[in-house]
Amino acid sequence: MENKSISELLSEQELSNDSSAQEVEGYTNESVIDLLKQSLNIHWEQTTALTAQAVHLDRWGYKKLAAVIKEDAEQEHEHAAINLARLEFFNQDYQPFVVNQPSWQRHNMVAIIQYNLDSVRKASLTERATIAAARAVGDEITANMMIPLLQGSEDGIALYESYLKLIEQMGLDNFLTLQV
Ligand SMILES: [Fe+2]
Repeated sequence: MENKSISELLSEQELSNDSSAQEVEGYTNESVIDLLKQSLNIHWEQTTALTAQAVHLDRWGYKKLAAVIKEDAEQEHEHAAINLARLEFFNQDYQPFVVNQPSWQRHNMVAIIQYNLDSVRKASLTERATIAAARAVGDEITANMMIPLLQGSEDGIALYESYLKLIEQMGLDNFLTLQV
């Protein structure tokens, strides 16, 4: 093998690759990229909403619920970073970057839990669609990467559904007494 200088190697790479070093022809498609962006947006939304909720709940005295929500916020932050890393692998920008305003009313505990439930349901639909779209183009890595995110969303659905069920059965005041 002939010895080439680094500058020769770099200029050869520039000629053959331009800026899209990690784009692999036929490996991904618009819908996988679009779904990764949707998943990223949902996860940033969850990170901001849950981080704020954990602070509110702690301040209002519901320490146990605050701790659960804080842990969830941290998990969703990690999921956002996983989506970003995959978009980076495909050399894709993550725009448009849309984070909706929280829609619950301050101090309305049932509305907060319902908001979180709706959000994880939305996330799980996007994650399942991403897994299916990735497998359709033979991208097992994106599909596998999404499985822990889907697991997190399904755990979230079970958690927030169980809270609503408890509130229905024991009443909001009794539920909140358990969260102090
Ligand atoms: Fe997640």
